[in-house]
Amino acid sequence: MAQINENYFKLQAGYLFPEIGRRVREFQKEHPQADIVRMGIGDVTQPLTPAVIRAFHEGVEEMSKAGTFKGYGPEQGYDFLREAIAKNDYKERGADIHADEIFVSDGSKCDTGNILEIFGQNNIIAIQDPAYPVYVDTSVMAGRTGEKLGNGYYDGLVYLPCNAENGFIPELPENKVDIIFLCYPNNPTGTTATKQELKKWVDYAKRNKAVILYDSAYEAYISDPEIPHSIYEIEGAREVAIEFRSFSKTAGFTGTRCAYTVIPKSLVASAPDGSEKPLYPLWFRRHTTKFNGVSYPVQKAAAAIYSPEGKEESKSTISYYMNNARILRENLTQMGFQVFGGTNAPYVWFNSGRGISSWDLFDKLLNEAHVVGTPGSGFGPAGEGYFRFSSFATHENVLEAMARLKNLKW
Ligand code: MLT
Repeated sequence: MAQINENYFKLQAGYLFPEIGRRVREFQKEHPQADIVRMGIGDVTQPLTPAVIRAFHEGVEEMSKAGTFKGYGPEQGYDFLREAIAKNDYKERGADIHADEIFVSDGSKCDTGNILEIFGQNNIIAIQDPAYPVYVDTSVMAGRTGEKLGNGYYDGLVYLPCNAENGFIPELPENKVDIIFLCYPNNPTGTTATKQELKKWVDYAKRNKAVILYDSAYEAYISDPEIPHSIYEIEGAREVAIEFRSFSKTAGFTGTRCAYTVIPKSLVASAPDGSEKPLYPLWFRRHTTKFNGVSYPVQKAAAAIYSPEGKEESKSTISYYMNNARILRENLTQMGFQVFGGTNAPYVWFNSGRGISSWDLFDKLLNEAHVVGTPGSGFGPAGEGYFRFSSFATHENVLEAMARLKNLKW
């Protein structure tokens, strides 16, 4: 009989967001009249902007004529998009990244999960706690952990606690680790890291020949000019880091799907014979073998984000969401919650301060206010007691949710 991947049995709960969806659907079934405000999953609500839609339509038009029709494109993405990314997202920030080091894909969720394929099985993986659940769950699925322990942690992973005391910037690991997942602006805590803080991690990775997997999917939400948008703004990062970026939150592509991963050609890791080999050809091999590229109209639409109109329009959508984040921050603070994030990131992270568990608060808000958020413990044990609101809801819904929360009895 065929045998299944036993690692899946180690995953004791469903993936966080479908689990929230299931609970909300159940509630809605029992309360069909309830007008639920959803601020759980970070899914955008504002439409693609005019410049993006125009380019999208042009791409579709081109596909309709024999002279401009396109079949398979380059698996790593069309040059026009990779060049726009290299110029706008890296060169203009002083980061030395070249177009051919960029792999266009259909999402950072997939890329952050799949990237482990190019690393040996015995690497020690360090993950921030709390963290975007994909990093832990895909490590488990790939057999890179032991069992889940009673305290909620997986044996074999090194957890890097992020809490109010350390400003949600973890301490360097006490023992040597090989692969480090870092995410800034951070999901779920909405906090950011300075250049000095990231430099500490780049230096650690250099000293220990480790690789940093840097998720900067929310970089477009940074308004403070002192905060780096990319790990490659840090000296030496080309030798130690892979970066993940996405158009999902930058330009409303959660349903359109387009992202990219950067692997500098100067990044090396150890081969079985002890020699140092570049990781770039491995991801190139993986990407060209398992992926056939993002569709042409979608890449055209993504490239339009870098046009002058596209940039202005994305900025205005981001301001819309950041205004929501401000309202969330101000109202939750007034209500006496301890609030973090939401100034250079779209997530607002708060502690109920009332000794209530994350899932109990989830149930209370759903049942009594018909408001959905994300329980902090869903992002890891250190998230217990915390709760996350996404500012990607509509402005009206954010105001409505805050009004309802103010009327809650505790
Ligand atoms: C989140 O809500 O944490 C993310 O938006 C989910 C995702 O991007 O996959």
